[in-house]
Amino acid sequence: MNKRLTVPDIVSKKGKEKIVMLTCYTAQMAKILDNHVDILLVGDSLGMTIYGHKDTLSVSSRMMIDHGLCVVKNSNKALVVIDMPFGTFEADKVKAFETAAELISKTKATAIKMEGGAEIADTVNFIVERGIPVMGHIGLMPQKINLVGRFLSVGKNKKEENKVLSDAKAISDAGAFSVVIEATKTELGKKVTNLINIPCIGIGAGKYCDGQVLVIDDLLGFYDELSPKFVKRYSDMKNIINTSVKNYSNEVRNSKFPGNKYSY
Ligand code: KIV
Repeated sequence: MNKRLTVPDIVSKKGKEKIVMLTCYTAQMAKILDNHVDILLVGDSLGMTIYGHKDTLSVSSRMMIDHGLCVVKNSNKALVVIDMPFGTFEADKVKAFETAAELISKTKATAIKMEGGAEIADTVNFIVERGIPVMGHIGLMPQKINLVGRFLSVGKNKKEENKVLSDAKAISDAGAFSVVIEATKTELGKKVTNLINIPCIGIGAGKYCDGQVLVIDDLLGFYDELSPKFVKRYSDMKNIINTSVKNYSNEVRNSKFPGNKYSY
């Protein structure tokens, strides 16, 4: 029996139960995270966390498919969502549907995520009407980094706030089943959550959102090239790895490893 959470399962949590979401890109991590979360997001943040790029703009569909497949194959409970890479959906809704269909058919993920507000509402509607569930992504949109220069919070004045609210409404009216809202004041996260009747999942948008998402490498203290205020580091993986590898190197250099215990 398929026990994977479905889109209606996620939607029905709004107002009742907080939704837990994390990014995930690899097999072993999928096996662990699947026991704890509702949604695994194969985010295009993998361009930064896995591939070491300074932003997400050079992520390709090929990368999303390879990592998406790993995550789907190695999980069986969480709903898996895959990010649409920059440049694959903005200009043309038919191309957007074709990209979305390729991501879904090649990975067997359930849904795709698209960054953008009112300007992509028609495309969201086009994709949903053809059978692919869409999660929106508003507020700070990392794929638009070159317009703003830096990863900054949004909604700092009335004009920006109104834009976030109208983007939320447009994406929700277009048929998205949920929306991620990134880097806004707590009050704006609350307003968006109350405005729309689909789950609003916050990352740096405060405690009133219907759920929360973090980048797994941030949570684990593995990726520390950026340190946004909203990241809570629950572990210090970078130090743990450094210490383990330092111990191994010392033992090899001093002929302590392998020793009899680790030899045939
Ligand atoms: O790509 C990603 O990891 C994301 C999250 C920040 C929500 O979009």
